[in-house]
Amino acid sequence: AAAEKGGYDYFMLKEIAEQPKAVADTLLGHFQDGRIVLDEQRISDQDLRDIDKVFIVACGSAYHSGIVAKYAIEHWTRLPCEVEIASEFRYRDPVLDRSTLVVAISQSGETADTLEAVRHAKSQKARVLAVCNTNGSQIPREADAVLYTHAGPEIGVASTKAYLAQITANYLVGLALAQARGTKYPDEVAAEFRQLEKMPEAIQHVVDSLDPVREIARELAGSKSVLFLGRHVGYPTALEGALKLKELAYMHAEGFPAGELKHGPIALIEDDLPVFIVMPPVEGRGVLHSKLVSNVQEIRARGARTIVIAEEGDEAVRPLSDHFIPIPASTTLLQPLLATIPYQAFAAEVAAARGYDVDKPRNLAKSVTVE
Ligand code: G6P
Repeated sequence: AAAEKGGYDYFMLKEIAEQPKAVADTLLGHFQDGRIVLDEQRISDQDLRDIDKVFIVACGSAYHSGIVAKYAIEHWTRLPCEVEIASEFRYRDPVLDRSTLVVAISQSGETADTLEAVRHAKSQKARVLAVCNTNGSQIPREADAVLYTHAGPEIGVASTKAYLAQITANYLVGLALAQARGTKYPDEVAAEFRQLEKMPEAIQHVVDSLDPVREIARELAGSKSVLFLGRHVGYPTALEGALKLKELAYMHAEGFPAGELKHGPIALIEDDLPVFIVMPPVEGRGVLHSKLVSNVQEIRARGARTIVIAEEGDEAVRPLSDHFIPIPASTTLLQPLLATIPYQAFAAEVAAARGYDVDKPRNLAKSVTVE
């Protein structure tokens, strides 16, 4: 078993380290002759062009990857896009027809809630596109189009490399739709793909610089509660950070959109409460960046401990951070591929410090095949 873990104490740590490859392999072969290509397409180009609304359905971490996708899909395609927890979707009678695209995201391809959402969508004549890590599993079998993630088998129950691969595949779905609809010129699609191709190297850089995060984790392993804040795509990153900590360390954690702080969560801020914040990258700096700087100031003024993930050289926020975790530069939309990684390492280290099995958290299953 030690050999299978490739020298790591846990599969999860090995899988965190495999993320540059998971992302690179997911991109591989999906840009050919200047066009984004899906793995399977049983829907005509014309029908794809006629899509006028997108719903994303998924559970757990896959759902968080779907929130990232919403920001990219709406920005690139100008299609309205909603993201929904799969177990809620079919029970509220969503408005679906043949020009609706339902994107189902699932690592296993067997999650019952997601599968039932797919079946409901199909019964209402909607088109279904699956983003899946498991060849031949049920969800891609029932879908009209498929894009496979190539994370390889994931053993750790808490998703890491499959999550980054899902985010990567979701971007490709967004670009494929933009290309079909003509909301992006071919050279713009190519330029976005080239940005994506740069990410494995940046991911490697983050993976290689996680020791300070582990040190912070050991220091904070006794905390009662941890908050995670972010805006734009930093918001789903906050949700994922909180989920990882709940799943692995059995610690109360919540992720919020930072703008909501003043509408409630600020009441939770007290002395020494650890608060993680993801800053938008320099490219997106402007209104959101300065609003987040103000949030960090407010949190700090109330005695909480600020742990800030920001682009290297973000000097506006560094002096306000009790702990500053630098990540490489990226475009705003692609930043979750980098900013999520410290949260994975943090949760794994807190769990290990508390004496828990990082790969097999209590009460959780890798794939949940009952509704
Ligand atoms: C379970 C796992 C989660 C996962 C979720 C969705 O709850 O513990 O890690 O995110 O299922 O799984 P899927 O296979 O559909 O991506």
